[in-house]
Amino acid sequence: MNSPFNYGKLAEGAYYTDREKESAWLEQQLNAGINTMLISPRRWGKSSLVQHVAARMKRKDKKTVFCFIDLYNTRSMEEFAEVYSSALLKSTSGSFEEAVATVKSVFRHIVPAINLSPDPSSEVSLSFDWKTVKKNLNEVLDMAEKIAQQKKIKLIVCVDEFQNISYLEDPAAFQKKLRAHWQKHHHVTYVLYGSRQHMMTDFFTKPSMPFYKFGEVFFLEKIPGKYWTSFITRRFKDTGKSIGETEAVAIAGLMKNHPYFVQQLSQAVWLKTSRKATMTNIEEAIEDLLDQYTILYQKEADHLTNFQLNFLKALADGVTSFTKRAVLSDYDLGSSANVKRIKEALQNKEIIDVFGKEVQFNDPMFELWLKKRYFRRR
Ligand SMILES: Nc1ncnc2c1ncn2[C@@H]1O[C@H](COP(=O)(O)OP(=O)(O)OP(=O)(O)O)[C@@H](O)[C@H]1O
Ligand SMILES: [Mg+2]
Repeated sequence: MNSPFNYGKLAEGAYYTDREKESAWLEQQLNAGINTMLISPRRWGKSSLVQHVAARMKRKDKKTVFCFIDLYNTRSMEEFAEVYSSALLKSTSGSFEEAVATVKSVFRHIVPAINLSPDPSSEVSLSFDWKTVKKNLNEVLDMAEKIAQQKKIKLIVCVDEFQNISYLEDPAAFQKKLRAHWQKHHHVTYVLYGSRQHMMTDFFTKPSMPFYKFGEVFFLEKIPGKYWTSFITRRFKDTGKSIGETEAVAIAGLMKNHPYFVQQLSQAVWLKTSRKATMTNIEEAIEDLLDQYTILYQKEADHLTNFQLNFLKALADGVTSFTKRAVLSDYDLGSSANVKRIKEALQNKEIIDVFGKEVQFNDPMFELWLKKRYFRRR
């Protein structure tokens, strides 16, 4: 039997819930040709949302073509050029012959090698002589617009892990160039997203950054508890088991509605459940997961300073105003200037997320681990 829950992969089909408002909004944006940047902490569902909307829009309109580019392991301009142009070619050409024709019509100076993979899905990819490409990078950066014009399609280019462009050589100059080109494209709409919330926020909200005001920035939220309750209940039912509302609410609550972790805990509870899930099943599932994560979390804790641990202790205790005199002294946080530094450091380490005045643990399981296993021992 397939697992009723899914984490670590894109959520789709029966594994996908809610996001109706966000989907409708994103669809409207893309139909209107507005470049959109999606920002959220790790594993809240950005990639799943974009895929979901893409599948829906493709069903409605055959003239809309989506191109997905993932920069997760792109570390040089050369790799960027190859990954980017190969993805464009793959998504807009139905056959090898069409790909060859497209390459001929979009490049003037660059003569890429077109590779056809031997597997039946016959994926095409391009490789370049980097010296020529370096001199004619424009041809790569404008490739999407040219293809869209020639094929009379509406092209939506979705770039995942976009923050990785800042690891390429001379990133500021490259970003400026990229923006200058992409901004002129009228037949292409860009969706940019990535898992490093902090970097992505800087990219798009700092006036000094090249991608400032490139399009509309959307801050994705978590999935509200009521959707989790019905999702969890339904998935238990779909697989011949059951769970009461109280237990489903408890799972989502313990994981603070965090999409990845709600799915993970649900799966662990489901495995413990013989017919109907109980609170004991939930407690046991939590203990198993905490055991599983201990090595990782212990390492994470070892890398924190005492001040940072004190701050996390306060956060786990439910403190919200960290600079109150009593809090500074009870938790040994030093001065309010020090609290600011601690917060920044923890944010850079992706241990906390800051939303205006509110601070949250990035990982609800780490919060539980600190509470149940770490702070108790100190
Ligand atoms: N709409 C959804 N319904 C149910 N579960 C979801 C949904 N969106 C995300 N999830 C859960 O969260 C996990 C992470 O989703 P996804 O990879 O889309 O997030 P992301 O924000 O792109 O992550 P990252 O920041 O690491 O790139 C999924 O594997 C799934 O378990
Ligand atoms: Mg993602």
